[in-house]
Amino acid sequence: MTTRCGWAGDRSQDPAAGGELHRAAGRRGHLQHPNLPTSRAATRWRELLEARAIPAEIRAAAPQDPSQHDPARFVPPATPKDTPSRRAALQLLGPAGGTVLDVGCGGGAAGLALVPKVTRLTGLDPSADMLRVFERACIERGVPHRSVHGSWPDAVPEAGVADVVLCHHVGYNTPDLGPFVAALSAAARCGVVVELHAVHPGAWLDPLWAHFHGLRRPPPATADDVLAVVAEGGICPEVQRWTRPAAPRHPEAEVDFSLRRLCLPAERRNEVAEAVAGLGPRHRDLVTISWTG
Ligand SMILES: C[S@@+](CC[C@H](N)C(=O)[O-])C[C@H]1O[C@@H](n2cnc3c(N)ncnc32)[C@H](O)[C@@H]1O
Repeated sequence: MTTRCGWAGDRSQDPAAGGELHRAAGRRGHLQHPNLPTSRAATRWRELLEARAIPAEIRAAAPQDPSQHDPARFVPPATPKDTPSRRAALQLLGPAGGTVLDVGCGGGAAGLALVPKVTRLTGLDPSADMLRVFERACIERGVPHRSVHGSWPDAVPEAGVADVVLCHHVGYNTPDLGPFVAALSAAARCGVVVELHAVHPGAWLDPLWAHFHGLRRPPPATADDVLAVVAEGGICPEVQRWTRPAAPRHPEAEVDFSLRRLCLPAERRNEVAEAVAGLGPRHRDLVTISWTG
């Protein structure tokens, strides 16, 4: 499903109205949007994320950092999937292609899906291990690239600007979403593509928080909460809701992931494996949010 300017009903870029998708005037103009960090939606977003923070005593006893990802799971595929996010980014780049900044790049799947249209790819991530995967993948594909080791938006000066800015699956890690989104806009000459789950991806494990820790999780944040923050920043995005095709389950990886997220030690692996087997598949509903100036 595609929603155009869902918050303002603007048909000026509606193809059905004779407009042109993702082609605002001033293609190389710097995007600027007002930033309202203390607005109502931004406050609600922060509260939703804080309410789901792992209690300090559980976190303190965790054998591994529960917020870290395993870089081995983020090696980009040799052949990228044709997704709404990829199509939105290619449309923003246009036939000539251009430079791309991938914020929270992980192994670089989002940016490398744009080869050969990406002329130079900057990957930004606070994880040095992820950046090593990103760099290896760029070298294998012969893509001119640069790594920025840092967090967004702190590392804005090092990242610089690019024609297109991507940010896939980082939003739910970001309590200060207003400034985060405003900085994505400010770094983009042509436009921004954000991809995230329709519902906080951690919600999949909520039944196991109750099972292992007796913890009842509050309602998860959703992409609609993200869209409210984006709208508060004065941005009128295109919104595409879609479902990722079912992939084969990897029970071992799911158990590793769940052990880490649930802050449990390896000795409880069998219990966790049994509990994870009783969960449904992980959520596959995704949202692509893209905008120009
Ligand atoms: C779930 S992974 C997604 C990686 C990649 N974008 C993808 O879709 O495959 C989230 C990534 O965001 C990074 N990250 C978390 N907070 C960040 C922040 N504030 N700024 C930049 N990257 C961040 C993590 O280190 C991790 O590599």
